Formats: sequence, C-alpha cells, structure tokens
Amino acid sequence: MNKIAIIMGSKSDLPVMQEAIDILNEFDIEIEVDIVSAHRTPEKLFDYGKNAHTRGFSAIIAGAGGAAHLPGMIASLTPLPVIGVPIKSSNSIDGWDSVLSILQMPGGVPVATVALNGAKNAGILAAQILGSSDPVIQETIIAYKETLKAKVLKASREIQ
Ligand code: RP5
Repeated sequence: MNKIAIIMGSKSDLPVMQEAIDILNEFDIEIEVDIVSAHRTPEKLFDYGKNAHTRGFSAIIAGAGGAAHLPGMIASLTPLPVIGVPIKSSNSIDGWDSVLSILQMPGGVPVATVALNGAKNAGILAAQILGSSDPVIQETIIAYKETLKAKVLKASREIQ
C-alpha cells in the first residue's frame, strides 16, 4: 500500500514533475507515473480516478498547467489524498491560472496544493503521508530534514 501515483496532464509537464519522481526515488518509495489529460482523455481520467484506490496507491500527485482541471477532477473521483502541482505551462498566462485552478476547490473536495512548479514538495508531502503509518519512511524524512538543517548551518558558518 506504500505506492504513490504521479500523473500529469501532458508530457510537456514532465520536466517539472520529474522533481517529484526524483525525490521519491531518492526516498526509495515505489511510484507509478502516467499522463492523464482531463481535457484530451476524459475517459481515462474517469477510469483512473475511480480505480486508483484499488491499485495499491496511498496518495496521488497530479500536476497540470493553464486550465488545470486534472487534480480537482481526480480528487472528485477518488477517496485517496490528492496533492496538486500547478505548472507554469506553455498555455499559462503567468502561472496564476494554474495555481487558482488547482487551489480554489469547492468545499468537500480538497486538493493539497503546493507552490507553482513545486513538484519536489509534492513528493516530500506524499512521503510524509506514507511516513505517518510507516516508521521506516518516517525515519527517512527525519534524516532528510537533518540534511536541510546541516546545509543551512554550513552556509551560516561560511558566510560569517
Ligand atoms: C495542460 O495543458 C497540461 O497539464 C499542460 O500543462 C498544458 C499544456 O499541454 P500541451 O499543450 O503542452 O500538451 O492540460
């Protein structure tokens, strides 16, 4: 049950979503990556959202840009937690379109929205969700946070 789904609206989203893939690989967490377009493959979106919870996933990371309906529509169909990644894509005006399309969900259908192009944080948040019931993954997160702290303290020493 410790598997994370990573989906995106287009192959053009991959350079951003790669950061979620990379951090979850670094944490040694099993992932499955796919392209699911809310507008171009609505039937696939429906099947994916309806069945994801039967396929061993614990959470879904969904990235999209512009009129970014993928995370919200997936959230409408699945009982799993959905983490949305707004992407500044070729059809974005300035990125705010992607952010607001994913962030401003109606009551009852949450999407945990990370920053614009914030796929790395989406991966970390997904790992933290797994870590709340898996002590090994939780230890990995604790160790990761220690590396963040060590980097800042090193920079602090060097700048003084
Ligand atoms: C969105 O439209 C996708 O998530 C992507 O961010 C954007 C542009 O898609 P392409 O035209 O590059 O396929 O649905």
